[in-house]
Amino acid sequence: TTLDVDPASYDAGEHASFMRKEILEQPAAAERVLRGRLDERFGTAHLGGLNMDARESRAIRRVKILGCGSAYYVGQMGAGMIEELARIPANAEAASEFRYRNPVIEPDTLYVAVSQSGETIDTLLAVQEIRRKGGRVVGLVNVVGSAIAREVDGGIYLHAGPEVAVASTKALTTMYLAFALLAIQLGRVRDLSISEGRRLVTALQALPEQIQTILDTEEELAAVAHRLAQARSLFFVGRVRGYPVAREGAQKFKEISYRHAEAYQTSELKHGPLALIDPEVPTVALVPHDELTDRNLAALHEIAARRGPLVVITHPDVDLGDLAQHPEVTRIEVPRSERELDPILLTIPLQLLAYHAALTLDLDVDKPRNLAKSVTVE
Ligand code: G6P
Repeated sequence: TTLDVDPASYDAGEHASFMRKEILEQPAAAERVLRGRLDERFGTAHLGGLNMDARESRAIRRVKILGCGSAYYVGQMGAGMIEELARIPANAEAASEFRYRNPVIEPDTLYVAVSQSGETIDTLLAVQEIRRKGGRVVGLVNVVGSAIAREVDGGIYLHAGPEVAVASTKALTTMYLAFALLAIQLGRVRDLSISEGRRLVTALQALPEQIQTILDTEEELAAVAHRLAQARSLFFVGRVRGYPVAREGAQKFKEISYRHAEAYQTSELKHGPLALIDPEVPTVALVPHDELTDRNLAALHEIAARRGPLVVITHPDVDLGDLAQHPEVTRIEVPRSERELDPILLTIPLQLLAYHAALTLDLDVDKPRNLAKSVTVE
């Protein structure tokens, strides 16, 4: 796929905006990033572009992920998958911070630079600093031949196609899937069993269609977004796998609707933000069916008790108990995947919530004020 299309040479077509067009393109983009990279027989992924053989993959003791904005948040989701599936300590950091703190560069750390444009200055300079000190960097990049793609030791092209809207949607989805491929591959040269690998490969293959079923609920999400758009301030909460999803959701909401949106770990609500909860401050909560469902629901009761409006993004088989009867609680369902892969399906409705909130407020969704699609100067 060639991706170096000049954005000026095409338009949003029948769609109201590039952002909506790009949201709706996600099932196809997801298929492209996975195409030819899944190995059902061995339950693994083939990522030839990484330029790393099995022995080199096994020698990695730590993974450090760097990006800015949405690329940073998806990096946090990726770190979670790498720790869970490959059992390698992994974390994500804003590239802008990393490069200014004289970071320790280790030879057995794999550095991963994540960037749609491949031109973000902070990410690019972080890559150069790491390589100057002898570190190995791979890129998760969309734009072929971009500056970051040229600087790295290897990488995974995202094949998302051109992304024009400032708020990243389909590129983020392909970044997530690229991380899933990387996590499975790193896992399968370690202790992730063949059957576990196959379970994840099968789940990945189902994701494009599952994303489509969420997009099909756009009208329902638009109705919820109209209500959220009335709030001056809102919270997005999640735990563990759900927390970076909450961060990304809050980011999207604030950048295109200009409403104050703050992400928090659901578990930390009681250590501060609960003081702000009242009928004027809605919370969007991520409650997947996983090992934390009950704990998440307990925290939501604290919000409901303070009459805080709640939008619960959850799975069909999660029983909300008493909360379901609460007048201030709205339930939104997404299909279940394997739990390690839940974050991407939880992210999709948040894109549509942000998009429709901005539309309700009559804002320019593609070009939010004060923001640029890629920040290439310091
Ligand atoms: C800007 C954009 C964000 C994007 C970030 C990183 O801030 O507004 O949407 O996530 O840059 O861009 P990159 O091209 O490196 O992914």
